[in-house]
Amino acid sequence: MTDHPHEKKEDVSRRRFVEVCIGGMGVASAGAVAYPVVSFLGRPASLEGAQTIRIPIDELNEDQARYIDWQGQQVAVIFTGRVPKAFSASCSHLGCLVAWDNVKHVFHCPCHGAVFDDQGNPVSGPVSKPLTAIPFQEADGHIVIG
Ligand code: FES
Repeated sequence: MTDHPHEKKEDVSRRRFVEVCIGGMGVASAGAVAYPVVSFLGRPASLEGAQTIRIPIDELNEDQARYIDWQGQQVAVIFTGRVPKAFSASCSHLGCLVAWDNVKHVFHCPCHGAVFDDQGNPVSGPVSKPLTAIPFQEADGHIVIG
């Protein structure tokens, strides 16, 4: 910055103040853009891929759902007719999270009204594909996903 010889001292300090503010906003904006990128790239590899989740079957209640975060996606584990089932909780229409209705035994999508039965099959709404089934094994009284 060069001061002009005919500027008053107040003008110079006001201009300097504005320059500092603009510079600060630039730094803040760059940080706001860079932080999500850096934090995404910095995720530990152990969170990707090989995550295994074990859920004790005796902790599952008939007709209830449990939502878990598995490999970056929401999974709904339900227990109906004494049989555990697991589905991606992302609606097969446009990906909104479906909610389990433990009275009607269906999943509802809040976005466009899709309904899926307890096998993940579409019942009504703008969907033709089922919810994605999440494979699991039963071992030692647990459901093992992954
Ligand atoms: S996203 Fe579920 S019905 Fe559209």
